[in-house]
Amino acid sequence: LLLAHGLLSCASSSVDRGDFPPNFVFGASTSAYQIEGAYLEGTVEDGSNGDTADDHYHRYMEDIELMNSLGVNSYRFSISWTRILPRGRVGYVNPDGVAFYDALIDALLEKGIQPFVTISHYDIPHELDKQYGGWLSPEIQKDFGYFAEVCFKMFGDRVKLWTTLNEPNLFAKFSYMDGWYPLGHCSHPFGNCASGNSSIEPYIAGHNMILSHANAVSIYRKKYQGKQGGHIGIVVCSRWYEPFCNTTEDILAAERALAFSGPWYSPFLRNDFFFFAKDAHDLGDYPPEMRMILGPDLPEFTQAQKKKLLETKLDFIGLNHYTAVYVKDCMFSPCEVDPVDGDARVVTSSERDGVLIGEPTGSEHYYSVPYAMEKVVMYYKQRYNNTPMYITENGYAQASNSSMTAEDFTNDTQRVDYIRSYLIFLASAIRKGADVRGYFVWSLLDNFEWTSGYTIRFGLYHVDFKTLKRTPKLSAKWYGKFLKESLLGT
Ligand code: NOJ
Repeated sequence: LLLAHGLLSCASSSVDRGDFPPNFVFGASTSAYQIEGAYLEGTVEDGSNGDTADDHYHRYMEDIELMNSLGVNSYRFSISWTRILPRGRVGYVNPDGVAFYDALIDALLEKGIQPFVTISHYDIPHELDKQYGGWLSPEIQKDFGYFAEVCFKMFGDRVKLWTTLNEPNLFAKFSYMDGWYPLGHCSHPFGNCASGNSSIEPYIAGHNMILSHANAVSIYRKKYQGKQGGHIGIVVCSRWYEPFCNTTEDILAAERALAFSGPWYSPFLRNDFFFFAKDAHDLGDYPPEMRMILGPDLPEFTQAQKKKLLETKLDFIGLNHYTAVYVKDCMFSPCEVDPVDGDARVVTSSERDGVLIGEPTGSEHYYSVPYAMEKVVMYYKQRYNNTPMYITENGYAQASNSSMTAEDFTNDTQRVDYIRSYLIFLASAIRKGADVRGYFVWSLLDNFEWTSGYTIRFGLYHVDFKTLKRTPKLSAKWYGKFLKESLLGT
């Protein structure tokens, strides 16, 4: 099956820098909590946390040298809300936090590396959770707007590419349904901890994320964009959903599951095309697929909020894309629904009877399915009238255990194959007219991987978490060569 998909959409079996436009952005991504070193406790496989992480906070100059030797022209990182506003709210701005990001941005620009900044990548100040339940309260809209404004004011003279939130679709689910991500709320019996909260929490959190995003974008448009001349978007987790069987039921289930992923955040993804389209009724509202399934469980936007959403159209969409899953219909056949995947059911590996969606990686959550890159990009191209896109994350999960040597990690041929194959399908989507403007490998460095701690590695550079020494893996060498050959015009 994989082969069939591969052959159908694969136009070429090799890729080089010349397959992408000359001004294409190529980079690597990280996020504050995962690399800087900070404090938070949670339910993590190996009991670890991000107290030290990669100690990037003290080693950022060394890390910029790594980027420079790779030859990337952009670096995607996030700003720690707590480092800038320790209490999270309007008021005291921490000068040390501002100084850190000032220095990071200046040093990047000096090397010709464009900062691509995520305002909030999952982590929020603990105070906000304590005071009003974090994303569950509408109060967060004002606080997020203030934090974003501090970022625009302090860094917007030099940062020209902003995204408000990282993967709100996955975050709302993992933090407010399964309890897997920071804040650790559970509202679903299959989650990580006992149920107790309302099962509509992910949608309330998502609603506040949408309105917080809109607030930040509207501040940027009104007060900063004109002067600073940057662009602003959002990043969604965009795995591909493949129908398990080639039946109408499973095909429709896959479409509904897709609508529950990135398009959940479509109230502002809608653009002029949809204004003239037949389904213009959901302009400034949730996708009709979600309304149909969730009914009154999905919050409503007021008329004033809808107006604001429509005014804050995105400049671009960021897609984090790693993998695909098979889905089964649960609407017309009995199966256990995963509420955030619509009424569909993600098929587990044991149910697949040997029919894998792609090549396994070091994590059961991340099969390598290169053709899905093209499918996802073409889906967003079609659904959002070719709004500009960046692939803000794509990368290979490598499992680690204590008996592995540094060579076992650095000889990462699977990661090279993964990145190369995904780029082949990205290039194919671009040839078919998709307006993709950049691609970022997740991640520059091995780092703290949320629920897996340090047991799963994504870095182009190996990090020895005892000595914090960085060593290039084969993939770093491959990516560097890929980028440099283009500079020579080959
Ligand atoms: C997406 C998230 O943005 C990032 O924080 C995470 O480490 C990667 N996926 C890998 O799971």
